[in-house]
Amino acid sequence: MKVAVVRSASDSTEREINLSTDLDLPTIELPSSYSPREVTSFDYLLAYRDSKLILQTTGDAKTGELYVDFSDAKLNYRANSSIRSQNIAKALGIKGSQRPAVLDATAGLGKDAFLMASLGCEVSLLERSAVVHALLADGLARTGYYGEEIDTILRRMKLHFGDLLVFADDSKQFDVVYLDPMFPQRRKSAKVKKDMAALQQLLGHQTDGAELLDCAKLLAKKRVVVKRAKLSPYLGPDKPDIEFKGSSSRYDVYLIAS
Ligand SMILES: C[S@@+](CC[C@H](N)C(=O)[O-])C[C@H]1O[C@@H](n2cnc3c(N)ncnc32)[C@H](O)[C@@H]1O
Repeated sequence: MKVAVVRSASDSTEREINLSTDLDLPTIELPSSYSPREVTSFDYLLAYRDSKLILQTTGDAKTGELYVDFSDAKLNYRANSSIRSQNIAKALGIKGSQRPAVLDATAGLGKDAFLMASLGCEVSLLERSAVVHALLADGLARTGYYGEEIDTILRRMKLHFGDLLVFADDSKQFDVVYLDPMFPQRRKSAKVKKDMAALQQLLGHQTDGAELLDCAKLLAKKRVVVKRAKLSPYLGPDKPDIEFKGSSSRYDVYLIAS
């Protein structure tokens, strides 16, 4: 997978240079009116547009572009519409005014983490892909862009770069560890959302599901929650203690004995 950071010929700025240094990626100089479809020397481009960092697919425009924007209307609709009664809240074990501290160990584009933070949870996000981490860091750092209500939710989200398989030790730091690994969708399953399809194309499929679950159990004080497509098999050999099934997804809950 070849990724480059776009520098515009007219106004290349420090942030592009910093990004290419931080991610150890080459830069490509393009005119301000470039079309990603015409770029053939890289598979993806990282570019700043209207103060957002976006990942563009070159050549084939089917998967379009990826970026993180916590003011997305669908995400906020979900966060606002009786989220306390949704399966994600039940799976986290939320009752009364208590809120678990959560590690979202497969942070991706941060949507699930945002939902959990909008429930009032302090959420640590862990992401192992440097490119996805950069998109997420950009979305979280866009201060003054979202407004106070969303900023309050974002203040509960702390991003870390790393791999759960390396990060995990036996120190039980989080009430809940949340996993949403990237797996191939069954052909007949519900539509794969566009940004998830783009993420899958970028990162490929996950092959270490059972190890992820073992590591998550080491870090969780109370439970591990695994998000799966409705008809997907369990992540590891063990049957979960509780399952919450929705129209397209399922939450498998593994309780940790205290
Ligand atoms: C399906 S996406 C998660 C989507 C996310 N739940 C959301 O709402 O946007 C899976 C993400 O987990 C990351 N990931 C997979 N295995 C990981 C690991 N062992 N440690 C940290 N991140 C991991 C992948 O790089 C990918 O970005």
